Amino acid sequence: MTTDSGAIRQITVNRPDKLNALNAATIAALTQAFQAAEADPAVRVVVLTGAGAKAFVAGADIGEMADMGAMAGRDFGLRGQLLMRTIETLTKPVIARVNGFALGGGLELAMACHLRIAADTAKVGQPEINLGLIPGFGGTQRLLRLAGRAATLELCLLGAPISAARALELGIVNEVVTADALDARVQALAVQLANAAPLALRAILESVIHGGECALSEGLQFEGAQFGLMFATQDMREGTAAFVGKRKPSFSGR
Ligand code: COA
Repeated sequence: MTTDSGAIRQITVNRPDKLNALNAATIAALTQAFQAAEADPAVRVVVLTGAGAKAFVAGADIGEMADMGAMAGRDFGLRGQLLMRTIETLTKPVIARVNGFALGGGLELAMACHLRIAADTAKVGQPEINLGLIPGFGGTQRLLRLAGRAATLELCLLGAPISAARALELGIVNEVVTADALDARVQALAVQLANAAPLALRAILESVIHGGECALSEGLQFEGAQFGLMFATQDMREGTAAFVGKRKPSFSGR
C-alpha cells in the first residue's frame, strides 16, 4: 500500500493479521512498489512501515516456508534478497519507520533501508535459528556490516529478540523515540530529506553503498568522481549562493 504526501512516498506492508509477515506475494508487491518509487521523479524520499500498532514485519512467512523444498527455498531467498538490494540501491533515501516487531526478514528489510527510526516498544532480532534456518534475505551480511561480528553472532546464534534501546546501543537503529513520537520524528526527517538536494543525496547513497563495497582506494576514487560531478549541478550553485547570501536554499534536483 502506498500513499504520497508531497515528495514523500510511504510504502506500508499491509498484512496486520499476520504481523506483516513477508510471503512471496508481499515480497513481489514491495519490490514493484520500490521500483515505482525509483522511477517516479516526483518522489524524493520513501518511508517504509508496517500496518497496525504491533509489528513492522515479523519475518518471512513461516507458514509459506514450511512446505518449501530446497529449490523453492532458494528461489524465495533470492527474491527476498532482490527486494532488499532494490531498496538498498535506491537513488532516493529510504527511512524505516520501525513501529513494532522487526524480526528475521523484518530486520533484514529495515537494515536494507538507509535510516532506521524505532519506537521504544519495538523488538528486533534474527530468530531463524529457532526454526532450523538461517537469515536468508541478507541478514548475516548486512548485520555484520552494520553492527560487527560480536552482535551479529549473538543475534543469529542465540535468536533472542532485543529491545529497541539495545539495538540503538549496537548501532542497528539510528534513533529510538516513544511510540507516540514516532510519526512526528519520521515526518520531520522525511521533510528534511525531501527538501535536500536530490542529486547530492543520490551521490552520498551511491558513494556509501557502492563505494563501501570496494577497497578504500577504489571507494575514494568513486567518491572523488561523485564530488566532482556535483560542481556541474544547479543545486550546488544554489546551495553555495544561498549560504553566501544568508538565505535558505531551494533545490530543484538539477
Ligand atoms: N510468519 C507467518 N505468520 C506469522 C509470522 C511469521 N513470521 N509472525 C506472526 N505470524 C502470525 C501468527 O501465526 C498469528 O497468526 P494467526 O492469528 O493466524 O495464528 C499472527 O501472526 C499473530 O501472531 P502471534 O504469534 O499470535 O502474536 P504474538 O503477539 O503472540 O507473538 C511474535 C508475536 C512476533 C513474538 C510471534 O508472532 C513470532 O514469534 N513470530 C515469528 C517470528 C519469527 O520467527 N520470524 C522469523 C521468520 S524467518
